[in-house]
Amino acid sequence: MLELGWLHFGITQALCLALFTVVLLYFIYGRGKRYNLPPGPTPLPIIGNVLLFARSKKNVPLEMTDLAKTYGPIYHLRFGFMRTVVLNNYELAKEALLTKPTEFAGRPRSYSMDIITEGGKDIALSDYGPTWRLQRKIASKALRKYLSGSELEKRVHKAFGEGAINALAAEKGLFNPREHISYAVVSFISAFCFGESHADKDSLAVKMLKFSDFFLEVSANGLPEDFLPALRHLRLKKSQIFRDYVKGVLDDLYKLYKEHEISFDPENIRDFTDCLIAAEREARTEEAPADLAQLSNTHFVQTLSDIFAAGIDTSRFTLCWAIIYLVAFPDVQEKAFKEIENVVGTSRLPGMDDRKSLRYTEAVLFESMRLRPVTPVGVPHAAIKDEQLGGYDIPKGTMVMINQWALHHDPEFWKDPEEFRPERFLEADGTPAPKPDNFLPFSMGRRVCLGEVVAKPELLLILAIFIQKFRFLKAPGEKLCLDPAGGIGGFVPHPYNVIVESRN
Ligand code: HEM
Repeated sequence: MLELGWLHFGITQALCLALFTVVLLYFIYGRGKRYNLPPGPTPLPIIGNVLLFARSKKNVPLEMTDLAKTYGPIYHLRFGFMRTVVLNNYELAKEALLTKPTEFAGRPRSYSMDIITEGGKDIALSDYGPTWRLQRKIASKALRKYLSGSELEKRVHKAFGEGAINALAAEKGLFNPREHISYAVVSFISAFCFGESHADKDSLAVKMLKFSDFFLEVSANGLPEDFLPALRHLRLKKSQIFRDYVKGVLDDLYKLYKEHEISFDPENIRDFTDCLIAAEREARTEEAPADLAQLSNTHFVQTLSDIFAAGIDTSRFTLCWAIIYLVAFPDVQEKAFKEIENVVGTSRLPGMDDRKSLRYTEAVLFESMRLRPVTPVGVPHAAIKDEQLGGYDIPKGTMVMINQWALHHDPEFWKDPEEFRPERFLEADGTPAPKPDNFLPFSMGRRVCLGEVVAKPELLLILAIFIQKFRFLKAPGEKLCLDPAGGIGGFVPHPYNVIVESRN
């Protein structure tokens, strides 16, 4: 009797499980059937195509580029429950970002990003809509205000012309420049955002650097809860550490913003936080009160958090890549040095006014950004309504990724795409060529990188300072690996060592 009872219970369980599986499969696959979706590899139940990348020894962007050889330039994947479409050529990127400028300007929400952005209250990861538009407008005004003075040059000279240069000069023999570059980048960004006194070794700068390194090592591909929301009830240890880091950084940002508000003087603008407060106060007279009421204190602190965080990994790894290419191509390095020597000389540091004459040096920077983009699959977009791309249906909410790596290495567009050739960015007479369509490190359209206006001059000045002051050399017998390490979120070079020789 007891056995029959268990058997009965077992059959009931099996039936329930089968029914649950059928319903689940219907929700995963069945509902998509009414759409003409792009082709793609068959997803497994629940986890989707995650294993395709987890098993891969290759990098995710490279693997995504390879998938386009099988499925075509637009294909469809599933990361857990998240439907994703990957675009692998310029025509599709243009359709998604320019031809349909708002349709794909949304952002997918995820568990980890909601923690960082306090529920999507920043610019970079919040969804497309009136709040995002106003928040971005105010931040963009604040950046322009900041850049209208000589502040950027002053901060770069301090963090790199003094800080990083002295640290590099003190190195004897072989060393990895990543730590000095990283520290100088966070010092520069801290001084940019909060003033010089916040750029020291015990400050938020160092906290942020530790968080960035943790993020890259442990969660660059997202937290498990991003793909399987049910896991959030388990309170995983990794996620708790992630939360603690975020809380530490946000607490400091709230404190700094408050301090700036209290001591704000419109006649004495000290840093970007002051510019943001000034832009916010101007908006009070220029914008409709109902629009402005959508923005809380949290939105302004989150704007600060975006400006502070978005430039750290992007800048430090762009510089790490540029230096490894200078080491690998000593002729290019000498040619850039000659240009800097002619334009600037060696007795003063390169400044903002020199930028338009440092054409070859800029082409070196762009060519290393083309070959090793630090955001190789951009920042994911999302369809804000049912739409079409490349003739396929893209249901509302689908995550859309623009595979920059594929565009930057497209053999249909670039001659010998794997070769390092800065001349691609110059006309025959050495003047800058128009921006190539397939070069999109900052993306384009409504969501184009807000910091492009800062990053381009900042990175060019820093690179020019490095080349002016040092010759970067490979040690005899040392192998340089130009293959990228790192996951989907950041594209990091493998650790490498250099020797620096002072030019003076
Ligand atoms: C090498 C340097 C940098 C690179 C390669 C880079 C790249 C990008 C990319 C690809 C996006 C996504 C665009 C899209 O969604 O289509 C982005 C967004 C953004 N970037 Fe940058 N970035 C860099 C530096 C910076 C800096 C220095 C700042 C701040 C001053 C910054 C602030 C932002 C912000 C706020 C967004 C979000 C824009 C939005 O969603 O509306 N970035 N960046």
